[in-house]
Amino acid sequence: MRKHIKEDPELIRERILEMAKEAESNGNPLTWFEDLYSSSEGNEEMIPWSNGEPNHLLVEWLDGEPPQGRALVVGCGLGEDAAYLSELGWKVTAFDISPTAIKWASETYANLDIEWRVEDLLKLPTEWKRKWDLVVEVHILQAIPEEVRVMAAPVLPSLLAPGGRLVSVGRVGNSGVKTTGPPWPLSREFISSIGGDLENTSLALPIELVNGEEIHRYISSWKK
Ligand SMILES: C[S@@+](CC[C@H](N)C(=O)[O-])C[C@H]1O[C@@H](n2cnc3c(N)ncnc32)[C@H](O)[C@@H]1O
Repeated sequence: MRKHIKEDPELIRERILEMAKEAESNGNPLTWFEDLYSSSEGNEEMIPWSNGEPNHLLVEWLDGEPPQGRALVVGCGLGEDAAYLSELGWKVTAFDISPTAIKWASETYANLDIEWRVEDLLKLPTEWKRKWDLVVEVHILQAIPEEVRVMAAPVLPSLLAPGGRLVSVGRVGNSGVKTTGPPWPLSREFISSIGGDLENTSLALPIELVNGEEIHRYISSWKK
């Protein structure tokens, strides 16, 4: 059962920025994810990207994609997208670098047949190459610093089986404009590079109004 204790979003954001900055200055820029999940002690309100629902842009995109094989959910967090794919009929493996997130997600969705794994996108098992019919990346690339992102993104296309699809979702920013992240909205140039040599099959750039603020998002997909 998920706990819902309201926390001030501004305070959570400040805390995350501090944790991410400290992790980066210690030379381990990804450790703050586990620190955040474990210090949240099962309170989903402390995880700002999680609301118990699958990503709405992914849900719309999946509407045109009949479930057909193995799906890999990258950096699955608390598992909402993985659960949605599983309910649609995909055979799902979901991984995250945070052991606490994986334990949390696997307990939340214990009723579903999902393989939950603690893995680092930068050190995936070699047998995962060319294995997946669908690879889903939601808000990971924008949540990791640029020096890690440029190594992480090229891993994604290498995971696809022939005919497989890659879908990536996140925020768009202007190249050259410095932002204090995470998240770091991605430039159009970076987004179009995510698929590498794959065929780009769609790109949508919706603008959404959230609490009076315009949020520029993207969802893009590729095919092998
Ligand atoms: C902003 S959260 C998004 C989580 C989830 N995809 C969602 O949309 O709710 C980024 C996630 O990526 C995970 N992550 C960051 N770096 C990773 C890496 N190198 N390998 C696997 N997961 C990673 C974090 O632990 C975190 O759960």
